[in-house]
Amino acid sequence: MEVTVAMAVGVLVGALPLVGLLAWWWNEAPAGHMGFPFLGEMLTFLWYFKVVKRPDDFINSKRRKYGDGAGLFRSHLFGHPTIIAFAPAVSKYMYQKDDEFIIGWPSMELIGLTSLGAVHGPRHTRLRSFVTNAMNQPNALRRIAFLVQPNIVAALQSWAQTSRVNAYKQVKKVTFENIGRLFASLEPGPELVAIDELFHGILKGVRAQPLKIPGFAYHHGVQCRKKLMDIFRKKMEKRKKMELDGLESKTNDLMDGLMGIQDEQGNRLSEQEVLDNIVNLVIGGYESTSVVIMWSIYYLAKNPHVLRKLREENMALRKNKTAGEFITSDDISELKYTKKVVEETIRMANIAAMVFRLATKDVEYKGYRIPKNWKVAIWIRYAHTNPEHFQDPMCFNPGRWDVPAAPGAYQVFGGGSRICAGNMLARIQVAIFLHHLSTGYKWELLNPDAPAIYLPHSIPTDGVEISIAAL
Ligand code: HEM
Repeated sequence: MEVTVAMAVGVLVGALPLVGLLAWWWNEAPAGHMGFPFLGEMLTFLWYFKVVKRPDDFINSKRRKYGDGAGLFRSHLFGHPTIIAFAPAVSKYMYQKDDEFIIGWPSMELIGLTSLGAVHGPRHTRLRSFVTNAMNQPNALRRIAFLVQPNIVAALQSWAQTSRVNAYKQVKKVTFENIGRLFASLEPGPELVAIDELFHGILKGVRAQPLKIPGFAYHHGVQCRKKLMDIFRKKMEKRKKMELDGLESKTNDLMDGLMGIQDEQGNRLSEQEVLDNIVNLVIGGYESTSVVIMWSIYYLAKNPHVLRKLREENMALRKNKTAGEFITSDDISELKYTKKVVEETIRMANIAAMVFRLATKDVEYKGYRIPKNWKVAIWIRYAHTNPEHFQDPMCFNPGRWDVPAAPGAYQVFGGGSRICAGNMLARIQVAIFLHHLSTGYKWELLNPDAPAIYLPHSIPTDGVEISIAAL
């Protein structure tokens, strides 16, 4: 009898892995289509984003074809078998399980392998706390609010003198000047222009198929990155040498901050880590902030009733200031309507259509299989443009922020431990810009019907050409 029980237990224990395997295969793979060999579904993706310019129909067409499942589809994108996650519940699950879904952007090499956006685990936590303290916390934001205003005020004055400007180009110029100053104490001039060009090359590569073949955007991005690293490396070495020679080299910019960071054992970041992080932060903050500011100019021109309310609120603040006095980050926290305009613009700008993860093991989600080593594209854009989450989603309506968004429906900055490290910095820059624009200027769109493009970012084809004058 005892032998029989022992045998039964033995068989059961022995069979457990097999049962587990069967249960795993019993789970369905998410519905979907792997597309053509090598290219996968890139052509379909490009069709919706680039050709017909209806980006959300990429997901809508899949929903019509396959149903909703658990908010997952299988596909092959950017060179990898990929699970597309389009429902807020599944995104939330993935953000929370950050050991099962680690960062997995196709272009990690361009972002920097030792940067905040690439590392995970305790290294990520440590680096993140430093970076957010240096630029995304109230004290840092107070300082940054003052540092960025001279450039913004001067830029707007020069726009009004020219009277006709391309908002996208000009906003990028002023944003980059501010980033250059905050991150590496770079002043406007030919060097900054050259660095800007190199960043452009990298940014284009980040959104491209990762092909290291001359002539392709990714290859060009890698070349630009090399040149950029050389420039920043020389700057770092100069600072180190000055320190060794006993000369004052401290500038209080992000590069200094990263060079000074130490853990409990006194370990510092390596040269490569400092440089990777500067590049990562510029990649994260440059185009994103510029595109949002550009869209704010566009939407306000198209929605005079919103501009009127925004102007009223900001004029009321100006009354308490002397001429030319800058506003503070504490002032901004009182600008209730302005903050709604900022949020609504960020929602509609949809800077990142998706964020990428890599499954570190086989995962079962609501009866569906997510295989180990597959990429996951969390399709955050779809959360913001889906009428199931936002009423009349394509309508610019800051008033919708009188109440918070439905849980999980607002993911413009991602979520979980990797939520954007510059989210408050971005918001404050947009709010400061709106303050000076709305209280000092009137403007009109020259091509109000210009269609939008969606890659690498969504922008109107004319880059928002405006005529602008002082009030
Ligand atoms: C409106 C503007 C911005 C938007 C919409 C935006 C969006 C995002 C999103 C969606 C993520 C998550 C990426 C992921 O989960 O893989 C992210 C991460 C990040 N962002 Fe932003 N971002 C903005 C501005 C900025 C700024 C101004 C900076 C810094 C100067 C910045 C730096 C970063 C960094 C370093 C990360 C990686 C964080 C981590 O992995 O811990 N971003 N951003």
